[in-house]
Amino acid sequence: MKVSFQLNGKDIEVEAPGNRALLDLLRDDLGVKSVKKGCENGECGACTVLLDGAPVTSCLVLAPQVEGRAVTTIDGLVDDPFMVKLRQAFLEDGAIQCGFCTPGVLISSYALLKGNPKPTADEVKKAIEGNLCRCTGYVAIIKAILHASERI
Ligand code: FES
Ligand code: FES
Repeated sequence: MKVSFQLNGKDIEVEAPGNRALLDLLRDDLGVKSVKKGCENGECGACTVLLDGAPVTSCLVLAPQVEGRAVTTIDGLVDDPFMVKLRQAFLEDGAIQCGFCTPGVLISSYALLKGNPKPTADEVKKAIEGNLCRCTGYVAIIKAILHASERI
């Protein structure tokens, strides 16, 4: 089947079987490797993208479900002021180690700050509860998100 959607602001049309996960569509068919493949069952958050502005685990979204909708990855937010502040804070606060979880964490954090630019630490924890990090732990990540929010 043909699937038409917007990817990072560009209109895309791809051929995909109805049971193809958005994660595979992005990585394997469209070459968007910033979206990471971890558990493939909604547990790790590494594959998180925005669907019409809301964070979703792309391994649990099927290709037909994005028809006519807008998908955003970190690649589409390079110059976005919120994302710029988040990236700066992640670097300054050492919130990145191997980086595998980072795109998903950034997307979840970005969605949080867009809706709630001055979150509490508990709200930050809630926003990233679906994103697993096997390296840094969460203290530095939470600190970085709060630092970014102070600069917004
Ligand atoms: S790969 Fe999608 S949640 Fe883990
Ligand atoms: S930095 Fe390695 S998984 Fe989070």
